[in-house]
Order: sequence, then structure tokens, then C-alpha cells
Amino acid sequence: MDFSIKSSKPEAAAVDCIALAVFGGGKLSPEASRIDRASRGRIAGVLKKGFEPKPGASLMLYDVPGVKAPRVLLVGFGERQPVSPKDFRDALRGAIRAMVEAGVGDAALYLTEVDVEKRSAQWALQSAATLALETTYRFDQLKTEKARKARALRHVTFGASSRPSAAMEAAVQRGRAVGEGLNLARDLGNLPPNICTPAYLAQRAAALGRRHRLKVNVLGEREMRRLGMGALLAVARGSRQPPKLIVIEYGGGRRADRPVVLIGKGITFDTGGISLKPAADMDEMKYDMSGAGSVLGTMHAIAQMRLPLNVVGIVPATENMPGGDATRPGDIVRSLSGQTVEILNTDAEGRLILCDALTYAERYRPAAVIDIATLTGACVIALGHVATGLFANDESLAQELLAAGETALDRAWRMPLWDEYQEQLKSNFADMANIGGRPAGSVTAACFLSRFAGKFKWAHLDIAGTAWRSGKEKGSTGRPVPLLTQFLMSRAGW
Ligand code: BES
Ligand code: MN
Ligand code: ZN
Repeated sequence: MDFSIKSSKPEAAAVDCIALAVFGGGKLSPEASRIDRASRGRIAGVLKKGFEPKPGASLMLYDVPGVKAPRVLLVGFGERQPVSPKDFRDALRGAIRAMVEAGVGDAALYLTEVDVEKRSAQWALQSAATLALETTYRFDQLKTEKARKARALRHVTFGASSRPSAAMEAAVQRGRAVGEGLNLARDLGNLPPNICTPAYLAQRAAALGRRHRLKVNVLGEREMRRLGMGALLAVARGSRQPPKLIVIEYGGGRRADRPVVLIGKGITFDTGGISLKPAADMDEMKYDMSGAGSVLGTMHAIAQMRLPLNVVGIVPATENMPGGDATRPGDIVRSLSGQTVEILNTDAEGRLILCDALTYAERYRPAAVIDIATLTGACVIALGHVATGLFANDESLAQELLAAGETALDRAWRMPLWDEYQEQLKSNFADMANIGGRPAGSVTAACFLSRFAGKFKWAHLDIAGTAWRSGKEKGSTGRPVPLLTQFLMSRAGW
């Protein structure tokens, strides 16, 4: 999809379809009024006859007099003005969806100059570009017949009332970078576990490195053993697929600046191991590498926009499989930190691979470390599919992440990390157990991780509920790439 910004008159745009913003109470945007006048009241007429301009609703008109484009899409933005960020998002999604449905190839959107509550004009442009990529995304690479319609929308022009400024162009390019990063994460999540293996993730990271000139280093089993990553290796034992520790370095900042480290859980399939999961919906455990996907997607986005910041991505990647040599419940292993762990449930594997990655991150003297993981079913029970669970050992880091989630409409919600919960991790035989029982399962998982994050400012994002959708619309969402990218942009002062 290509984007451009043009200050053109909507009636003169030589495209398949122009999109105009309309509001409740028969209110029209300036461009919609213009077309209304040119067509002698056609737009106002349609609204009067009962089209309800709710956010997400749209109406396609054909052959509107005085308009060059053969089609005009009226896009509802609801009653409120300025519109809320969520209504803006729903309206843009609805508009893109309607154009894809109608097979529009070349569109001019006069939608991004509507006033959005507490958001800048650049925010609207950036979000619109991201939403266009997000909404037209299809995962059909493994279908013999491809969805032709989605490919139809090739050119999107954002109509502007003034000459496009450099800031406006930059906003669209940033929006594109986020959208591409989001869709990269979705592709990785949607790929089946027989294709998306640890080696495959390493390969995709290497390809990203070549494209953006990132430094990519992949540690294999032998190096992990030499380092002493006993927790990560314990998870990998049951699998025929060799584990990988993927390290991606992006140096957009000054050489001496401490990096932000992003760590993504990369379980390419989680059977539970010897503590085997039930059969129902086990296929969904291919998404258990969504944290890893979000790290790769975010690295793409920031490299694409040349963000002036140093960022390191670390992905511990392995399958969690049962087998004759798999880790048993009761096994005790020594982590890279030196702390020992009694593995009481092999299905609590995410924290085992993350704890060694956290210790590995110490070598970067990080400004902050954020891990992203589909860590617990309990987080889905707590927050559903709406908010990502946020845990942090630092107040200001937590606030930054919450704010980034608000801005990017990819929200997180703070959860506690109080000492009282740590007691649930007591083991009779090792320094700690890898599970803390049913109560507050997402909190005790985070508490486990906190024991490996004492040397830096750290936050943990539990994305078990937000990284994918089940049911009819089953698939990866790409979250929290928008949150992470916005967080890094804010850190860079953008
Ligand atoms: N990958 C799962 C968490 C998960 C479950 C994500 C359901 C999305 C949906 C994780 O490895 C896991 O199995 N966690 C266990 C932990 C338990 C054994 C303490 C869980 O949540 O049941
Ligand atoms: Mn598990
Ligand atoms: Zn898992």
C-alpha cells in the first residue's frame, strides 16, 4: 500500500473513491459540505433520510453530481466533537473495511483533519496510516486461493487543507512503520508451529538485520550451556527443535547511551511438556511466541523510522514438548543467575526461559528492560482481551508504559508486585518454585521474574489476553507493537 498527502479539492480528486467525514445531528466536515454544495444537497439529503453516522458506519454513494470520483464514501464519526480517539479509530477502520469490500483500489481520505480529543493532527495522520495497514492485513500465504479483495486497496491519499508539511509526511511514515511492525508480528504469530520454529525466528531476525543494518547474534545450545542457562535449557529438553537465543541490536542513539532492552517470550509451541495441556484449543499455543513477534515487529518499526535511541531485542526461543528426555515435575535446575528453581509444573515454562534472558540482559547495562510474554492464563481471567497486564519495579517506567498505551490505543493496566505474593513461590528444596498456585497466578508469575530483574528498572507485559483472538476471527493481533513503539518514541523525545 502506498500513501501520499495532497492538498487537493475533494471534488477534483482523480481516484476511485473519496471518503468524507459526517457527524451526528447532520453535521458535515468542511469537505463534506463542499461536496454537498457541489451536488446540490446530496449529502445532507442522505443524512436526512436516515443514515446514522455512528463511528464505524459508512455509506457508499455512486455518481454524485459535481464529483470527479465515481464513488463517495460517507464515513460516520458519531455525535461527539471533537471525536474521541476510539471513535476516530472505529471510523477509520469502518471506512477502510468498506472500501476493501467495495473493491476500491485508489482512495482519497478526507478524514484525518477532524478534531480528535487531546490528540494532534500528526497523531491522526500517523494512526490513520497504521489503521489502513492493520485493516487490510490478510494472512493467506498458506491458502491456495488468495483473498483478492484485500489487495485491491493500493493507493491511499490523505486529503489536507494546507500544503503538506514535513511533520505531516513524517507522521504518515511513522504510521506506516508501526503498521508494518504490527503486521510482521501478526504474520509470525499466525504462522503454524511446524514453520515458525526457533530456527525460523532466528532466520527472520537475521533477515531483519540485513534489511535495516541491525546487529543480529544467535546463540545455540552449546553457548547456552557454556553460559549456564539451565532454566532455558530445561524447557528445551523435550524438543527435537534446537533452542535459540536471538539478540538484535539497534544503535540509533549515541554510542554511550544505555539501551532499552526488550525481551520477548519465544515459545514456538507450548504443549505444557510433561504437565501436558488438555487437547481442546491446543493449536492456539502456536501464539506463545507472540512476545517474540512483538519484539521483532517493534525492532522493524523503530529501525524503519530511524528512531534516535539504542534498543536491544532478546528472544529466548524454544518449543515446550514432552518426551523421553523432557524435564520432569520435581526437577531442580540452576538458572544463569545462579538461583535454583524447582520445576513443579513444566507448563510454567515462559518464566523459565525469560529468567535466563533477564540475567543475560544485565550485560547491556540497560536503561530499562521490558519483557513481553503470553505468560499466564490467569491474566486473561483478570483483564480479558482488553488490557495487557503491566507489572513494574519502577514507578516512572510503569507510568511511561501506561501513557504510551493510552496514546497508541493499545492499553495496559497496572498489576501489583507486592512482597506478600512472593511467599507463594517458596520451595522446600530449591531457592524457589516455578509456580505459586492458583490464586493471583499472573502476579506470582511476575514475582518469579522480578527475582531476576533486581539489577535494573524493569517492566513485564503479560499479553496472554491481548496478543491474539480466538473464535471466528481467530488470529494474531500484533499487540503490543503500538504500545512499545510509542513508548520508545516518547523515550527518544518524539
Ligand atoms: N503460554 C501459557 C499461558 C497462556 C495460557 C497463554 C492460555 C494464553 C492462553 C503458559 O506457558 C502457561 O501454560 N501458563 C500456565 C501457568 C501455570 C501452570 C502456573 C497457566 O497459565 O495455566
Ligand atoms: Mn505453558
Ligand atoms: Zn507458554
